[in-house]
Amino acid sequence: MLFSPLRLRELELRNRIVVSPMCQYSCVAGDGVPHDWHLVHLGARAVGGAALVLAEATAVVPEGRISPWDTGIWTDEQAAAWERIASFVRGQGAAAGIQLAHAGRKASTRAPWRGRGRVAHEDGGWEPVAPSAVPFSDGDPAPRALEAGELPAVASAFAAAACRADAAGFDVVELHMAHGYLAHQFLSPLSNLRTDDYGGPRENRMRLPLQIARTVRDVWPERKPLLVRVSATDWVADGWTLEDTVAFAGELRGAGVDLVDCSSGGSSPAQEIPDSPGFQVPFAAAVRREAAVPTGAVGLIADASHAEAIVAGGDADLVLLARELLRDPHWPLRAAQELGAEAPWPKQYERGRARAPLRVEPTGDVELRRATLDDLDFLVELYNSDDVEPFLGGHSVRGYDELRADVERSQADPHLFGRLVIEVAGARAGAIGYRCVSERNRIAHLEALAVHPSHRGRRRADAAARAIQRYLIVELGYHRLEFAVYRFNRRAAAHAERSGFVREGVKRKAYLRHGEWQDAIEYGLVADDLER
Ligand SMILES: Cc1cc2nc3c(=O)[nH]c(=O)nc-3n(C[C@H](O)[C@H](O)[C@H](O)COP(=O)(O)O)c2cc1C
Repeated sequence: MLFSPLRLRELELRNRIVVSPMCQYSCVAGDGVPHDWHLVHLGARAVGGAALVLAEATAVVPEGRISPWDTGIWTDEQAAAWERIASFVRGQGAAAGIQLAHAGRKASTRAPWRGRGRVAHEDGGWEPVAPSAVPFSDGDPAPRALEAGELPAVASAFAAAACRADAAGFDVVELHMAHGYLAHQFLSPLSNLRTDDYGGPRENRMRLPLQIARTVRDVWPERKPLLVRVSATDWVADGWTLEDTVAFAGELRGAGVDLVDCSSGGSSPAQEIPDSPGFQVPFAAAVRREAAVPTGAVGLIADASHAEAIVAGGDADLVLLARELLRDPHWPLRAAQELGAEAPWPKQYERGRARAPLRVEPTGDVELRRATLDDLDFLVELYNSDDVEPFLGGHSVRGYDELRADVERSQADPHLFGRLVIEVAGARAGAIGYRCVSERNRIAHLEALAVHPSHRGRRRADAAARAIQRYLIVELGYHRLEFAVYRFNRRAAAHAERSGFVREGVKRKAYLRHGEWQDAIEYGLVADDLER
């Protein structure tokens, strides 16, 4: 399920994995323009196989930045810089999204590695605004409470930002209504002490966030999905609760929001958050179930099987990962391998697709391993024995020097060439080879499958053939395997058919072997045959 596509409006996501928005605090102070860092950071995660790459909390107005180094999208210059990034991300097969944000009372702070804390006016800081003149932490200066008359402009700023995001080529907008930023400050009774239409009962506290959602939905193209990130609970007594979130999510759905991304916390320094794997997943599950809206789950999701279980179990439609994708931008590609799912690799990276290509999973008691120079005597004896007729291919490589060169090449270039030893219970029982005949079309040719006479009659060759199929297709990413059986060798043909190869026809006098033209039966197998 993690690698099944998801359709939201007219956008098809290639799988269920989303790069959670992550502030990079990496603009040139004050300009809000995304730079090379943002291109590489977001681009790398698109290359890594995520379905949707959400750019960080991006301010809709200058005073809405968390820090002076935040990205923005309130100018055309910023939008133009985003266009390059959105275009690259989309070029990798991912959808490009951007999180639109206003930090409210949490604005004008330093980047984490600059010691957090407030940025003073003389250092480029500004006076934050909020629903009420209540600071986040005791001891901080109080923000300025927004006048009711200023609120429509806040909603319009989100809409203007969404228009720029559309023009820049983004497929998705996520509205940041979580983590104690402006919209969440309006929702939470901890930060909203207003007595007008925007404060008091929940319905009033939801008014501005819903106006933002509706105003954005009005200008954001009908065909493009709109997401909202919420904090499902404040984790503080008397704060915003899951029950409030379910009610809010229902209203968001009515406002044309397509998916609710369920995070939590951020309203109060008094919050107590349990940090266990998937601790916010129950919020996504409850909102999905009770508000009948698609959801995203986020927070301490790091294992492929966990992510798979969240989607397959119906807890959420998408999983969002943040820190795990900082550790490994290619997590989606690795997760696909781990789950046995198909996820296309960037063609430039195809050769890195295989993990350590040294040992092959045993098939029964037969194992394959890459030959070393210690195996040379065995290989020379095997291939030169009068008793041994290699199943695949004739007597092509026999000399000591030739085999030595083969073994060295097999070690140096395991993706393109292999000389493998077949082992039974740790003892050498035979050998097999392969070579890449088309890197572009991912075709490998098998050759010289030989079983030592002492191991005959126990289907060792069949087991070895199945092991090498799995190895070349699953581990090395080949799409098609092929080989020819010469001189209508019946035993070899029967072996090929038993081990799953498909007979593709006979080539008459098509192969020059040992100076003679020879007939051969051609066999092939493509990745899909293996799955069956
Ligand atoms: C470096 C960093 C920056 C973040 N910036 C944002 C942000 O801009 N917007 C947001 O909604 N969440 C932000 N978060 C929170 C993440 O999106 C995510 O919800 C959180 O880290 C939990 O997910 P994880 O356990 O996979 O990291 C940030 C997290 C990190 C680690």
